[in-house]
Amino acid sequence: MAKKSDLEVLLFPVFLVLFFTIISSKTYMVSASIEETNALLNWKASFANQTQTLLPSWNLLSHSPCTWFGISCNSAGSVINISITSFGLNGTLHEFSFSSFPNLKYVGLSMNSLFGIIPSQIAILSKLIYLDLSINHFSGQIPPEIGLLANLQFLYLVQNQLNGSIPHEIGRLKSLEELDLSTNQLHGPIPASLGNLNNLIYLYLYNNSLSGSIPQEFGNLKNLLELYIDTNSLTGRIPTTLGNLNKLTLLHSFQNNLSGPIPHEIGNLKSLVSLSFSLNNLSGWIPSSFGGLRNLTVLHLYENQLSGLIPKELGNLISLTDLELSQNQLSGPVPEEISISRL
Ligand SMILES: *[C@@H]1O[C@H](CO)[C@@H](O)[C@H](O)[C@H]1NC(C)=O
Ligand SMILES: *[C@@H]1O[C@H](CO)[C@@H](O)[C@H](O)[C@H]1NC(C)=O
Ligand SMILES: *[C@@H]1O[C@H](CO)[C@@H](O)[C@H](O)[C@H]1NC(C)=O
Ligand SMILES: *[C@@H]1O[C@H](CO)[C@@H](O)[C@H](O)[C@H]1NC(C)=O
Ligand SMILES: *[C@@H]1O[C@H](CO)[C@@H](O)[C@H](O)[C@H]1NC(C)=O
Repeated sequence: MAKKSDLEVLLFPVFLVLFFTIISSKTYMVSASIEETNALLNWKASFANQTQTLLPSWNLLSHSPCTWFGISCNSAGSVINISITSFGLNGTLHEFSFSSFPNLKYVGLSMNSLFGIIPSQIAILSKLIYLDLSINHFSGQIPPEIGLLANLQFLYLVQNQLNGSIPHEIGRLKSLEELDLSTNQLHGPIPASLGNLNNLIYLYLYNNSLSGSIPQEFGNLKNLLELYIDTNSLTGRIPTTLGNLNKLTLLHSFQNNLSGPIPHEIGNLKSLVSLSFSLNNLSGWIPSSFGGLRNLTVLHLYENQLSGLIPKELGNLISLTDLELSQNQLSGPVPEEISISRL
């Protein structure tokens, strides 16, 4: 008898602690999800009237937003993923309460009609891994604060009306693997800091108004598979450091104002499948080192000021199916080694 009550006395505080732990974690869970629920409903209410009806599951009948369309939560019931793609959403991010989503990791809002600026408060989403705002109508500058999203691996802002220059702070996103800023109205130079992104695999900056030269620091992007910097206003010489990118399969830099010779180091890019420097002001000879590009299927050098003979080493390019060298000042015969039947 005495033993039992001893046990009760002993265990009572344990039960008490357990009880309060359960209560407080439940309270925490509910209040976290209430804040997230309200934040999502406020954001929905800010959409243009005709699109507010698009998300009927977003209502107060369900206790948490975790079952709503486009929303997923972690096991604690906190929102980690907001993905609503190609849904006709018409609104801004002005009423989106970034601070209400401490666990958000994935945001996918591509192919809607979202407009206005990308708010600098986005930097509060410190766990963000994936941000896709592509194919919308966002305008203004890319907020430099985006450089604070230390966990970001994927950043897609393709096809908006973003202007201003690329913030050099993007060079702080050391985890970044894919960066796509193409088809906007970005101008000014490409920040040299992008050369710090040594986990980068895909870098797409095409179809903007970027000027200045290709940063030499791009030679540090040792994991890069694809580099698209075409259709801009880039000037200066092609940096020899690009020859360090030995995983690169695709290098598109057509339609710029690049000048000077094509560095023979480009011939070191043994993984290249497609290379285009067309529509620039490049001069000098086609490097004979190109004969080492054994995986090349596409070689476009048309509309430049290239001169001299077509190197017979191009005949080594056994995978080549598309060779375009027209509108240069090349002379002499097409070397026999380049079998026309293969082209
Ligand atoms: C978005 O809503 C606004 C205001 O209702 C309207 O003027 C605009 O045309 C809409 N945009 C699209 C792409 O539907
Ligand atoms: C929706 O319509 C109401 C009344 O017609 C109007 O007061 C409100 O400003 C509109 N909201 C938006 C976001 O267009
Ligand atoms: C986020 O949600 C979308 C839509 O439900 C889904 O397709 C996507 O895979 C999710 N992302 C992750 C990383 O779970
Ligand atoms: C950038 O876009 C914003 C919003 O569309 C506009 O107000 C601003 O004048 C533009 N700035 C530049 C430098 O083009
Ligand atoms: C380039 O951007 C312009 C708008 O800035 C767009 O109209 C055009 O379709 C884009 N071209 C490509 C090839 O993406």
